[in-house]
Amino acid sequence: MGQFNVVVLGAGGVGKSALTVRFIRDEFIENYDPTIEEEYRRAITVDGETSSLEVLDTSGAEQFTSMHEVYIKAGKGFILVFSLTQETSLKEVDYLRKQIFRIKGNDSRVPIVIAGTKLDLVNEREVPTNTIQTLASRWQLPFYETSAKRNWHIDDIFNDLVRQMRKQ
Ligand code: GTP
Ligand code: MG
Repeated sequence: MGQFNVVVLGAGGVGKSALTVRFIRDEFIENYDPTIEEEYRRAITVDGETSSLEVLDTSGAEQFTSMHEVYIKAGKGFILVFSLTQETSLKEVDYLRKQIFRIKGNDSRVPIVIAGTKLDLVNEREVPTNTIQTLASRWQLPFYETSAKRNWHIDDIFNDLVRQMRKQ
């Protein structure tokens, strides 16, 4: 059984932990409790094949950004998370994406998926689909609009990433 390290990165409060815990335990975390660092493990079956995922949920707080280099070196695949309700959190995705390519090497095909969270908060939405669509096609990265609360498209993120990691 293949084992893959996945790192979840993105700005503070965008929903990294909610997304991770929805995937790991199928629960929604309602209260905001900022993360320092949490590691989870889960088996996942994609296309009839089972793999073991080690998922590292990281902090979005500024004082921990010095850890990014270590996480990126150790990670096989990356979920870059922003909130659909916070336009500025998309900038962090661009920054992280560049940092990953700087550290992993520009020509390596690093497994990455972009996740826009809080899709259920329709009235607070700031990032239209075409904005993220345009960016993602420029970056040549897959993206999903998700809700950890409603469990929308959470599995899609991980399935996509597993398929990319298996091709490496
Ligand atoms: P840091 O650990 O500080 O970097 O934050 P984080 O990115 O892990 O954010 P977290 O998952 O803790 O979520 C922050 C807040 O947003 C919490 O109150 C969550 O309940 C809420 N939240 C996360 N995802 C969703 C979602 O899909 N829908 C809704 N409505 N709320 C969400
Ligand atoms: Mg967190």
